[in-house]
Amino acid sequence: MAQLWGGRFTKETDKLVYNFNASISFDKRFYEQDIRGSIAHVTMLAKQGILTDEEKEQIIDGLEGIKRDVEEGTLEITYEYEDIHSFVEANLIGRIGDAGKKLHTGRSRNDQVALDMKLYTRDEITELDGLLKEMLEILLKLMKENTETYMPGFTHLQKAQPITLAHHMGAYFEMFKRDRQRMKDIYKRMNLCPLGSGALAGTTYPLDRAYAAELLGFDGPTLNSMDSVSDRDYLIELLSAMSTVMMHLSRFSEEVIIWNSNEYKFVEIDDAYSTGSSIMPQKKNPDIAELVRGKTGRVYGALTSLLTTMKGIPLAYNKDMQEDKELVFDAIDTTKGCLALFTGMLKTMKFDAGRMEESAKHGFTNATDAADYLVNHGVPFRDAHGIVGRLVLYCLEKKIALDDMSLEEFKAVSPVFEDDIYEAISMKTCVEMRNTIGAPGRKAMEKVIAAEEAYLTAE
Ligand code: ARG
Repeated sequence: MAQLWGGRFTKETDKLVYNFNASISFDKRFYEQDIRGSIAHVTMLAKQGILTDEEKEQIIDGLEGIKRDVEEGTLEITYEYEDIHSFVEANLIGRIGDAGKKLHTGRSRNDQVALDMKLYTRDEITELDGLLKEMLEILLKLMKENTETYMPGFTHLQKAQPITLAHHMGAYFEMFKRDRQRMKDIYKRMNLCPLGSGALAGTTYPLDRAYAAELLGFDGPTLNSMDSVSDRDYLIELLSAMSTVMMHLSRFSEEVIIWNSNEYKFVEIDDAYSTGSSIMPQKKNPDIAELVRGKTGRVYGALTSLLTTMKGIPLAYNKDMQEDKELVFDAIDTTKGCLALFTGMLKTMKFDAGRMEESAKHGFTNATDAADYLVNHGVPFRDAHGIVGRLVLYCLEKKIALDDMSLEEFKAVSPVFEDDIYEAISMKTCVEMRNTIGAPGRKAMEKVIAAEEAYLTAE
């Protein structure tokens, strides 16, 4: 056991208590951020004359050495230290002696951990943003390639009206685009530096908090030291944004699972992204999509956990807050992993355009257009709705599509129908006529694709 605070104690900590209290097993993952924060802290201390330039150089050399050795695997982060802060400080003192003991001047582990977690979160938000961008690039490619790939659009999981694959992919494009915007908002709001807040009430040293903030790429220092050490709002916001990403991925997974089923066969998931059965030789299962759907619960769980942990905490720092780490780390790993895997699956998935178009034809998705045809020929919409309803009933009995009916059969229900009805209810016409912005018609889609392309390249 190596602790930073033995002075006022006369007994050793109980072993179980030590293990219960320690966080090194998980906070070791932000050793780099801890060192980065310490380097900024001593740089600021030296600028303010609190440390000499020589002490600063010695400390920075020592810290960089620790970072290098950890990265090269010659220094192992072992669990006899309580947390990553103790590990780094003890190693520094071991390497450079007395100057190392000055590193913690004007700082508490409370503002230190608040800083580390913010630095770590910022780095991860940047990674999440990159993965979301990759997803958007693939979706945009699919949109460009499929403006004339017709498929049924659904409501209530019942075939409703024909759309295109480009339009369907475009819906997910909008969702993941909003996810990126949420990440950006969180980054902007959290980007204030807590360093220099001390345990809760600042310090008596003449720190230049604005300078330290600038060194670490923050927009400025936080404005209340008690809030600084106990604010975990940005983690709750991030968990909420990641829950939304997972909800989107889960909906998409559900569709892929349905589309990949034997009944639909709209898509074929690549062998590299499927698994087999140990007993049924014919099986090729969409396990990746199912796991992504399943893991959504973990991320929602982390959000609920942290909200609950935070709800009864009086100001300022309390140890409860250490619970933020495992939850957030796991949620970030899960979301990043799911994004990367889903993107890979989507990139290699094959869409069966023929089956999708056939499916749209045989689900009466052009029934609204048949009614619109009648309306365009002077029939009131309510009557047109009834006429087409009777046509559908007739087709259901004969097990045919609307397009398969002869003109005589059409005319037997309404004399308004003429030869041009076939053109009017073809998949192509049904889609092409829908050209209000946001609709699946090719002209409207092309405008949207150009706008989204401009958004992606401007980033
Ligand atoms: N491991 C602690 C955490 O994650 C670091 C801060 C400890 N501060 C303290 N006063 N015990 O929150």
